[in-house]
Amino acid sequence: MKQHYQSVIYQIWPRSFKDSQNDGIGDLQGIISKLDYLASLGIDYLWLSPIYASPNADYGYDVSDYYQIHPDFGTMDDFDTLLFEANRRGIKLIMDIVANHTSIEHTWFQSAQKDVSSPYRDFYYFMEGKGNHPPNNWISIFGGSAWRRIEDNTYALALFTPSQVDLNWQNPKVRNEVVRILKFWLDKGVSGFRWDVINTISKIDGLIDKNPNKKGLQFADDYIINREPSLQYIDEIMSQLSDYPDVLMIGEGMLIDQASAAKYAPNQMRRMDMMFHFDLHMLGCGPLGKYDFRKLYRFSTMDMKKVIFSWQKDMQDKGYWIGNYLSNHDQPRQISRFGDDKTYRVASGKALAVLNFTLSGTPFVYQGEEIGMTNCHLDMDEWRDFEAKNGYLVLQSMMKLPAFLAKKIVMKMTRDHARTVMQWTDETYAGFSNVNPWIKVNPNKDEISVQACEKDSNSLLHFYRKMIELHKQIPAFTFGRFEPEYIKHPQLIAYRKEYNDESYLIVINFSKKMATCKLKGTWLDAQEVLYTHTTRSPWVKKMILLPYEARIMKINLF
Ligand code: GLC
Repeated sequence: MKQHYQSVIYQIWPRSFKDSQNDGIGDLQGIISKLDYLASLGIDYLWLSPIYASPNADYGYDVSDYYQIHPDFGTMDDFDTLLFEANRRGIKLIMDIVANHTSIEHTWFQSAQKDVSSPYRDFYYFMEGKGNHPPNNWISIFGGSAWRRIEDNTYALALFTPSQVDLNWQNPKVRNEVVRILKFWLDKGVSGFRWDVINTISKIDGLIDKNPNKKGLQFADDYIINREPSLQYIDEIMSQLSDYPDVLMIGEGMLIDQASAAKYAPNQMRRMDMMFHFDLHMLGCGPLGKYDFRKLYRFSTMDMKKVIFSWQKDMQDKGYWIGNYLSNHDQPRQISRFGDDKTYRVASGKALAVLNFTLSGTPFVYQGEEIGMTNCHLDMDEWRDFEAKNGYLVLQSMMKLPAFLAKKIVMKMTRDHARTVMQWTDETYAGFSNVNPWIKVNPNKDEISVQACEKDSNSLLHFYRKMIELHKQIPAFTFGRFEPEYIKHPQLIAYRKEYNDESYLIVINFSKKMATCKLKGTWLDAQEVLYTHTTRSPWVKKMILLPYEARIMKINLF
């Protein structure tokens, strides 16, 4: 087993973490100023969402120069300082590598689009349109055609925003450039990469129409996702990184299934060390993804449990690894989505933390989740994300929804929820900046902030510190055998984790009502490791759990 599996990884979305220059945008010096706070959490790795030069069509996920720091964030000297200061505190850095596509402002694309004989023409997918239509019927992940019109009848493939043009990974020169980028950052001393949409780097030969007999744009799923050649490309890259045996590779598996995850992150091979899957985050969404509201975003504890348990068992059976995350920069805030952001905000935040830190897989923490940040109401003029603005239009034009409904749907799932600024204090701009930030400050910074959490010994922040410590002390959480418990109980998410001679029982009441369950056999004499509520109910044979209460118990097996 790889030892770094037991690490805890903290994700920073730099634009909203801490502004040191007072221009309303987070930056590297801001992160440096908070390294002691990050170290106090006990995390091992910091993953930085992209900090490279970018025109920000997708806030950094559209890279125009992989070797430059975006001036909004500072300079390369600031980066070197961040790396040094983080390492000094025992924290390693992970860069986000966005290599499925570049920005249209990248010099490769600039050269390629100007000149058909440019050596960079084959770096991208340029194709002729059909009549007055794009070359094929693929829909972009963000809605609308997946093709960007370049001139007359020439198009370039752009599966995300129209400003992110897909790289042609069939071209070995593209793969060599990617290796060059990786080595540049590794030689600086970074410890790993989070690969953006790694399972879309290979596309079907000829980029043919998907479902040619159907009308309208089609989601090209198996034509762009989880294709075999992606694995060959990864193997080739890894073989060129043999001088860097400890590099940590984390793959974002967009809509990945279990069979594919097993191939991308096998325990016994040097590919990705772990994959993110999307199944938990797609709960309550229809088959078309996050803006497909047909299931009204409703799901039960049973639904959640089914997804979580199925992945736990599958990775155990097949021998692969996943990263566990309940929120990130692409998802609404976890307490609003999976817990209760009103009456039980702190309790449900703790229940979610227990889940995240005791499942097999490597736990990720997204900035602000450790203080229980929630979704934020945003008026339309406060929306910042392309996906939200575009989704609003696409829901009306393609799905024929009335504007009010389109707005409601976007507000439910927009990524802007995750991107409101980190709430450090209750000051006007939440201690993030001294000026009005680039995105709205959630007014609940008056109650929810690092400052408020530090003062309260029962706060979520203190609980996260405790859970992170436990996660490191108890290898059973990471490496233990997973055994589901109370499977049919509609309120509980419960399981055992067994490792060497220890067995842990984790029971979480994932509901707003009290729950009871019978304890069996040796568990009646179990040692209590952790409980989330201050006043806990004693039990005799039956365990009583208050709303969102979680408990961890332990027995010795031999
Ligand atoms: C990934 C990123 C997301 C971005 C997309 C395109 O899903 O997490 O933020 O928009 O890739 O790069």
